Amino acid sequence: MPTPPAMNGNDLTKKDEKTHNNAPLIGIDIGGTGIKGGIVDLKKGKLLGDRCRIPTPQPATPEAIADVVAQIVEELSARPEAPAEGSPIGVTFPGIIQHGVVHSAANVDKSWLETDIDAVLTERLGRPVEVINDADAAGLAEARYGAGEGVDGTVLVITLGTGIGSAFIFNGQLVPNAELGHLEVDGHDAETKASAVARERDELSWDEYGVLLNRYLQHVEFLFSPELFIIGGGISKRSDEYFPHLELRTKIVTAELKNDAGIVGAALEVALHHKLAK
Ligand code: BGC
Repeated sequence: MPTPPAMNGNDLTKKDEKTHNNAPLIGIDIGGTGIKGGIVDLKKGKLLGDRCRIPTPQPATPEAIADVVAQIVEELSARPEAPAEGSPIGVTFPGIIQHGVVHSAANVDKSWLETDIDAVLTERLGRPVEVINDADAAGLAEARYGAGEGVDGTVLVITLGTGIGSAFIFNGQLVPNAELGHLEVDGHDAETKASAVARERDELSWDEYGVLLNRYLQHVEFLFSPELFIIGGGISKRSDEYFPHLELRTKIVTAELKNDAGIVGAALEVALHHKLAK
């Protein structure tokens, strides 16, 4: 078989070069404290080589973030295992993203509001970019390669970090921008009480935290009756401390992809969008 020509932005518009071949792509995960990137093996849902991480610049304005994303892409592109030059890049952002535009900025610089992040990054990187909510990316990755693999019906991935992120997956398909972290529970925006950062800020013991988290998850369970909850975020590795307080009828497990879920999900989303993966 002849070797396919190297991809670039224009090639992607030609149908016959959309190969569904799951070739590796770059994923970038924009967070409040760090921006992380990696080259993703889309067959296995794993990183090829190490992650690259740069602290999030402060103030985290669109220009400053775009510069750091470009730096990470440059570093990853110089590696031997780098994807073809000009291949598209998947990026996550911790807010509502619809048609590439940021519609919420609960825990990030407010200058992002109504910014076309897709356009800003496409222009800065000079190659196609697809941006997706951070928790949605983690959810996609868990559904395909992790704890949600093969689970039918509703799977809710809840990430506990600075805020509470959520991904709503139904029969393996993502229903984007669910924002279940902002449900009102007992008169409060849930993430202000039950996120990992809220636990630290309020100096809660694990037992106290477990009670609050249980209250939140019971409410989510009541509304959506999922088949499975998958808990992600840094404190998922301490689940032994608070899972005993959860009284749910829904099965609950921790995320499998850990720190890489956002990067993997970002690359998967852009691959699906450009029909480079199925
Ligand atoms: C945001 C979500 C985000 C989550 C986790 C929330 O405050 O509204 O969009 O997914 O934090 O970063």
